[in-house]
Amino acid sequence: MAKPRNVFVCQSCGNVQPKWTGRCEACLEWNTLQEEREAAEARPKGAASARGRAGLVLSGMKGTERMPPRLATGIEELDRALGGGIVKGSAMLLGGDPGIGKSTLTLQAAAALATAGRGVVYVTGEESAEQIRLRAQRLGLEDTPIGLGVATSVQDILATVDGPTAPDLLVIDSIQTMHVEGLEPAPGTVTQLRAASHDLIRFAKKRGTAVLLIGHVTKEGQIAGPRVLEHMVDTVLYFEGERGHQFRIIRAVKNRFGPANEIGVFEMREAGLHPVGNPSALFLADREEGIAGAAVFAGIEGTRPILVEVQALVAPSPLATPRRAVVGWDGNRLAMILAVLEARCGLVMSGRDVYLNVAGGLKVGEPGADLAVAAALVSSLADRPVPGQTVVFGEVGLAGEVRPVAQTDARLREAQKLGFKRAVVPRMAKPPKGGIALVETTRLADLVALIGPVRRGRRREEALDA
Ligand code: TYD
Ligand code: MG
Repeated sequence: MAKPRNVFVCQSCGNVQPKWTGRCEACLEWNTLQEEREAAEARPKGAASARGRAGLVLSGMKGTERMPPRLATGIEELDRALGGGIVKGSAMLLGGDPGIGKSTLTLQAAAALATAGRGVVYVTGEESAEQIRLRAQRLGLEDTPIGLGVATSVQDILATVDGPTAPDLLVIDSIQTMHVEGLEPAPGTVTQLRAASHDLIRFAKKRGTAVLLIGHVTKEGQIAGPRVLEHMVDTVLYFEGERGHQFRIIRAVKNRFGPANEIGVFEMREAGLHPVGNPSALFLADREEGIAGAAVFAGIEGTRPILVEVQALVAPSPLATPRRAVVGWDGNRLAMILAVLEARCGLVMSGRDVYLNVAGGLKVGEPGADLAVAAALVSSLADRPVPGQTVVFGEVGLAGEVRPVAQTDARLREAQKLGFKRAVVPRMAKPPKGGIALVETTRLADLVALIGPVRRGRRREEALDA
């Protein structure tokens, strides 16, 4: 057997290199390599030989399998994000910034299942039992029959839960505090993270226990050692939004048992996370009509239509390189929209600072938001509000064309439900019948014309002076 060598493991993506470099060769992140002892490969001689083996048993695709049963937590917004509830024997990862509400939501879900008669074990390696009990008290859940344990050794945990009756749900808060005894690298390294998750997930599959791993997210927005864990688990849920916001949005970025990108919306209250059944109404609650630089986007998150306000501020910049700040949308996409407005519609965006914000803390990923973003930008630049009671959606191409998006009907229905009278949309082959008036656009210039005159190539003050 070869002597174990020292290798360098990227703490972000798990890549293993023989030499130290300042930057990981795989994921290109800086300063993420850490020296670890390579696990000695115990591979007995002759193991690779095929002779005398039973081999692989092949079968067809047809069988009697059904979708594994789901345990609904009864917390609707969580069940929705999960695609209907927790799947028996599945492995889930719940990620988010420290303090965003991971332990709170998990405790609420655990309590709901325990109250419904399910076996639930909550293991913390991060807080003391007293701290968890205080949280339970605050949430009014101290009487629920959850098995609470404080541990950081995976062997200890499995020795307890892998007994005659395995629990229905095992919560690990957090996976970064867990370690596998006998493995050399320190707790918190990618090797430990991977080994601990592997053992817990294998237990989940063997005993049909659903395992929920809580994971911290680093500044860059990824769970430390993220890519490693994401492909090991069945479902990845992330909290998005910031701590300052009152809303907490949980998104299924991966789900082997349901639609991906489904979101659940909560409000952080005195007594825990409170599900928000009608997020559009809430996202638009503080909105004022008739303000320049705002547009309502009729979006789709997962399978659900959501209306949200996009706000823009375009202002003359004192800086040589004007500022571009984005919250809740992709900065590169914003750069593209600005370039198209400049090149195809003749609006001068250079020399101006641009701020863009999706209200409420939602992260919009759809290109269908392009037209709403453009509307907010043009409205701010022209200092004229987008026409009232109007929603906007559509994708914008590099030639300045407006492209169709999916699920038009659902978007329009939601807009109508919330009292909107008009929708600025891409050209439609079959416009749906209904009460909402459609303003079809084929080019971005149509939108600019709709919002009003922007003096071409002039700064706003000049336009006002003229
Ligand atoms: P927590 O679940 O501990 O966050 P995480 O596990 O993601 O680090 O929640 C942290 C915040 O939530 C904390 O700042 C206090 C607040 N909070 C409430 O506002 N109401 C509550 O009922 C609870 C339990 C927490
Ligand atoms: Mg916590």
